[in-house]
Amino acid sequence: MRQKIVAGNWKMNNDLKESLKLISEVANMVTDEVSNDAVVIVSAPFTNIYALDQWKTGSSAVDKIKLAGQNCCWEESGAYTGEVSAKMLKSIGADYVILGHSERRQYFAESNSQLAKKVDLALKHELIPIFCVGETLQEREQGIHFDVIKSQLKEGLYHLIKSVFKTVVIAYEPVWAIGTGLTATPEQAQEVHAYIRQLIAEGYDEETAESVSILYGGSCNPSNAASLFSQKDIDGGLIGGASLKSRDFTDIIKTFNS
Ligand code: 13P
Repeated sequence: MRQKIVAGNWKMNNDLKESLKLISEVANMVTDEVSNDAVVIVSAPFTNIYALDQWKTGSSAVDKIKLAGQNCCWEESGAYTGEVSAKMLKSIGADYVILGHSERRQYFAESNSQLAKKVDLALKHELIPIFCVGETLQEREQGIHFDVIKSQLKEGLYHLIKSVFKTVVIAYEPVWAIGTGLTATPEQAQEVHAYIRQLIAEGYDEETAESVSILYGGSCNPSNAASLFSQKDIDGGLIGGASLKSRDFTDIIKTFNS
């Protein structure tokens, strides 16, 4: 059975006080209302992760919510002003790190080869990468979206040996659906998720392909989560805007309640 995962990507939102308020609301709702065993992840700005971890440790939600960074440096340490390393993230309570988000690729020119280095450092420091792939609108219109996703996956992750590859989480986030209110239809999303799983089967084997969780991201909300998550190859979501509202985020997680 693949792990079901709902991860909230807060992006550059919430100062310290707002972060603590939001996590406590989410923790209460998750504790009271969620009856499934989906892994719940909150990916907060670097500045707030330590405080969120401290808060979590003293609450009943300690095991219910995992923390993630939104990026980490491609180097271990050194003269990289403004960067944060995988080791640092691990030391403040993160268990996951989002890598290759399209906003990082677009605004910070992150390349697949740089991402491959980040993946290695994350894994070295026991952070699970949530590795993002996805095409732009133009790429979809040109009909090259499968090729784009294939290169992102191959160049970013295929250097990993099978046993390590199995531990990684993949997120399919069509760029045209991020923050636009335009969601991929369940059929469109399923088509790409199935393609990603097929690529993994070809690059590794069937068993590996069946064990990797693949999340959908892009304007996912409480109204469309059920139809997306019921698709065969969609194992949960990477949620942006809707993760900033405790009610919406919890309702998305509850989609997995039976
Ligand atoms: P939205 O849910 O706001 O479209 O963002 C998706 C996303 O980028 C999650 O990483």
